[in-house]
Amino acid sequence: MGQEQTQVLAFHSLSLQVRCRVTGMNLERRAAQSLLAFWAEAGVEALYLDTPRDRMAVAPVPRLPATKPAIVSSTPDQSAGRDLAWAAHDLEALAAAIAAFDGCALKREGARQAVCWRGAVDAPVMIVGEAPGADEDAQGSPFVGRAGRLLDKMLAAAGLEGRILITNTVFWRPPGNRTPTPEEQLACAPFLERAIDLVRPKLLLFVGAAAAKSMLGANEGILALRGRWFEWRARHTDLEIPAMPTLHPAFLLRQPGAKKRAWQDLLTLTERLDRGDRPA
Ligand code: URA
Repeated sequence: MGQEQTQVLAFHSLSLQVRCRVTGMNLERRAAQSLLAFWAEAGVEALYLDTPRDRMAVAPVPRLPATKPAIVSSTPDQSAGRDLAWAAHDLEALAAAIAAFDGCALKREGARQAVCWRGAVDAPVMIVGEAPGADEDAQGSPFVGRAGRLLDKMLAAAGLEGRILITNTVFWRPPGNRTPTPEEQLACAPFLERAIDLVRPKLLLFVGAAAAKSMLGANEGILALRGRWFEWRARHTDLEIPAMPTLHPAFLLRQPGAKKRAWQDLLTLTERLDRGDRPA
């Protein structure tokens, strides 16, 4: 029998005090970490503590409409990024502009290189993920690790191979694979928007809570957002594109039981894409 210890576990913005037995394998600790990861992905942003906190004492944060970007103000970083992004007339020039851009703090936090996109430059579907991880940082291409391999398999099975361009809300790996902050996403947003503007996909797919929330300005968790159609609206042009959030493949690796929901979402997306491609 191992010795009992209280440990504080943290995942993204969640943290949890757990009493667990410290065993050679630390299985209970890992189970608690996996549970935290599940909750974070499902949109749980606060946990109740042993000591009650008076949440009514805090002034309520106004909810923004679900389809408007959460942060609409222009920061100096964003206007610098916007000028650079809009000076690029193709994806190659845009990738070079991103690599030269110093306005996102992630670039100075240990990332090896900018990770822009991969796929067809005229793709009818653009996929936006959260942020590059360790494999992506090493290879300079998005979704090339375990989660990316699962995503590729699902895309191929849904008939989307060769019809997609994959990118992320930020172009540099956040240290320790943490979720990118809204400021980091905002700094990269003009480049992402310009990429969407250059590709002009018919549909957008946002994978995971961080991408869905940042792209749609939504406050709901990913389990509530997934599988629904939204209209993504550009900040700097009048471009509007139908967009669907779905579950992140990293979440599906941890919770294989959720795969059928992501699969349903992909089929709904493909059906709409193919319906749109057919002559009336
Ligand atoms: N997860 C993401 O959200 N993006 C990647 O590129 C890799 C993993």
